[in-house]
Amino acid sequence: MIYQAVEVKNNVYRIGFNDRKTHLFENWLPLPQGVAYNSYLIVDEKIALVDTVEASYAGDFVAAIKCLIGNRKVDYLIINHMEPDHSGAIKAVLAQWPDIVFVGNKMTASLLNGYYQISDNYLKINDKQTLSLGSHTLCFYMTPWVHWPETMMTHIEEEKILFSGDAFGSFGTLDGGIFDDEINLSFYEDEMLRYYANIVGRYSDDAKKALDKLADVPVEMICSTHGPIWRTDLAKVLSLYQKWTTHTTENGVVIAFASMYGNTERMADYIARQLSQQGIRNIRIYDVSKTHMSYIIRDIWRYKGLLLGSCAYNGEAFPQMKYLLDKLIHLEVRNRFLGLFGSSGWNGAGVKALKDFAQNIEMQIIGEPAGIKGSLTDSTREQCMLLARNMSEMLHRSFS
Ligand code: FEO
Repeated sequence: MIYQAVEVKNNVYRIGFNDRKTHLFENWLPLPQGVAYNSYLIVDEKIALVDTVEASYAGDFVAAIKCLIGNRKVDYLIINHMEPDHSGAIKAVLAQWPDIVFVGNKMTASLLNGYYQISDNYLKINDKQTLSLGSHTLCFYMTPWVHWPETMMTHIEEEKILFSGDAFGSFGTLDGGIFDDEINLSFYEDEMLRYYANIVGRYSDDAKKALDKLADVPVEMICSTHGPIWRTDLAKVLSLYQKWTTHTTENGVVIAFASMYGNTERMADYIARQLSQQGIRNIRIYDVSKTHMSYIIRDIWRYKGLLLGSCAYNGEAFPQMKYLLDKLIHLEVRNRFLGLFGSSGWNGAGVKALKDFAQNIEMQIIGEPAGIKGSLTDSTREQCMLLARNMSEMLHRSFS
């Protein structure tokens, strides 16, 4: 058997590819450790594929399936998710097995037609409808908006396997190990959160609904479209998703700042030192001009405290800070303690923009912003000290 195909359980195979060439996922999220695309093949009296892979792997994907099933044909393609990182090989699959039946919901049909002009041989299924392949029974659960409107999950009742689409997915290639018990999970936990916060996070309420809907479905293996397959410590991955989908945070503070000449940065360092002296142990300072926003957002998703600092720039917040503010609104990040600070030459425009942002987001303001003119001095340090004290007191109360 070629290495891309691994049997995950009785005649159920993962057919996956490691993408180390793409620099930016969705053309904006850095992939320093790549990403894996996971498709699954169920071999029974009937053969079914669950999702495909990104288009550049289409040839190798079809070859891997043929290597497994020889002259048999693939009878069904279950489309859990139409985003092209999973639907990119659909035309190659259709070319190889022209009688294949596409299985999806009403919304899937529209997307399938829109992206690939395919409307024939379509089996429209409804929530909790089943499809028998012989000894494997598939049950389909509609889970819209995790991460597109058509997204659904597929469950093999006999094997207790859940094909979860993007849910529980992670950045990072699978370097040898593909199961949670074969790999060091610390890297994937970080990359799973970065994936969640930036891609699924906006749809947290929908993701929570999906978790609730599946709460009584027996699951012994979770097969996502990206990252590791979970078969041993499902409790861990489920608890992470319970936490992230409900905006449940850890004790800690992200300080994200924009600074041209170092004055706002000095405020960030000063505030961080105060926080540390007041017993806060998880403090991450990020320069928005240096660190890609997706990493900052990952940690904002993790921690309860958020301190945003911006210098003034042409009467507004600094451009990269504006971008971060827009993204936080768009992702509907909420339930954080929020503090604001910044330095300006004359009109305090950076802090003013931060205050406008604070009016439009569901976060608890921890007190007056620390807005200074020019550089940090003995007299202006007091404001930073107060901001740090407010934040640490609220965190201590919240996590005591
Ligand atoms: Fe991995 Fe929403 O696609």
